[in-house]
Amino acid sequence: MKKKLPSKYKLNGGFFYNDDSLKILKSKAFVKKYKNKIDLVFTSPPFPLITPKKYKNRKGEDYINWFADYAEPLKKVLSKKGSIVIEIGNSWTPGYPTHALIEVKALMKFMEKGGFHLCQEFVWYNPAKLPGPAEWVTKYRERVKDSFTKIWWFAKTPRPHADNKQILTEYSKGMLKLLQKKKYNSGKRATGHNISTKGFFTRNKGAIPPNVFEDFDNFLRISNTSNVNKYREYCKKNNLPAHPARMPPELAEFFIRFLTKRKSLVLDPFAGSNTTGYVASKLGRKWLSIEKDLNYIKGSNGWFK
Ligand SMILES: C[S@@+](CC[C@H](N)C(=O)[O-])C[C@H]1O[C@@H](n2cnc3c(N)ncnc32)[C@H](O)[C@@H]1O
Repeated sequence: MKKKLPSKYKLNGGFFYNDDSLKILKSKAFVKKYKNKIDLVFTSPPFPLITPKKYKNRKGEDYINWFADYAEPLKKVLSKKGSIVIEIGNSWTPGYPTHALIEVKALMKFMEKGGFHLCQEFVWYNPAKLPGPAEWVTKYRERVKDSFTKIWWFAKTPRPHADNKQILTEYSKGMLKLLQKKKYNSGKRATGHNISTKGFFTRNKGAIPPNVFEDFDNFLRISNTSNVNKYREYCKKNNLPAHPARMPPELAEFFIRFLTKRKSLVLDPFAGSNTTGYVASKLGRKWLSIEKDLNYIKGSNGWFK
């Protein structure tokens, strides 16, 4: 195993490693430096796709085993109360209109290998996703659009650090009406459940969000379109490729607020344009990112302009 860490850059207040993330995570020097120190791993790895993208995604069993190999090295550097959050898309069987479940198998194997607890599953409904699997949706019309990705939240302990008061959202119109009326049809339901309204009408600082992301209007605090434009303009001006699979900063913001405190250390081992690092730094957290394509690392400067 390599002792020396591969190329590392101090960049915009954090650290960027430019190499294969598994190689870095397994290096003795990395483990020694970060053992039990990382409070949140937040990432979106390459998805198990049918048609390989530019960064040569793996397929089938190969993908499952490759992804599960990250479990042990990540466990070593994760702090006792830390979390790992992974966003991943659905996989389809080549030539058939069936769900291949590669992402589920990979996540399960990752969980088992690391001995992790699955704290909660989230769903990101993204209506902007292109209609897929294209052939079966638009040509044969036998399936509907696959419009969500899964986000699985793991930890070493069933009760990692988490505080939903940090991610409260605006009350819905319906809830605001109820809070005003202070009346709700309480009592016994047909199912035999007794619905109590005790504490129901207390107006807190906001509503507790659900585990489905439909739009990010409620979380839009640190980011806005001008940041995204700045990133794109920077890439264009410097002749660098803008990352084609960037995640919305609000997604990173949700989990960083929810699962870390100020000065916590956040790692993204498949950083791409470094949305995670940018959001972490905006929120006063420390960040560490790994990306194998140097051009995306160079382009990530655009977020910080
Ligand atoms: C889905 S993208 C992440 C996008 C990122 N969340 C963003 O908002 O820009 C996955 C990234 O992982 C990188 N990648 C793929 N395999 C890798 C590996 N073995 N080590 C490090 N980076 C890798 C790809 O180059 C790509 O930029």
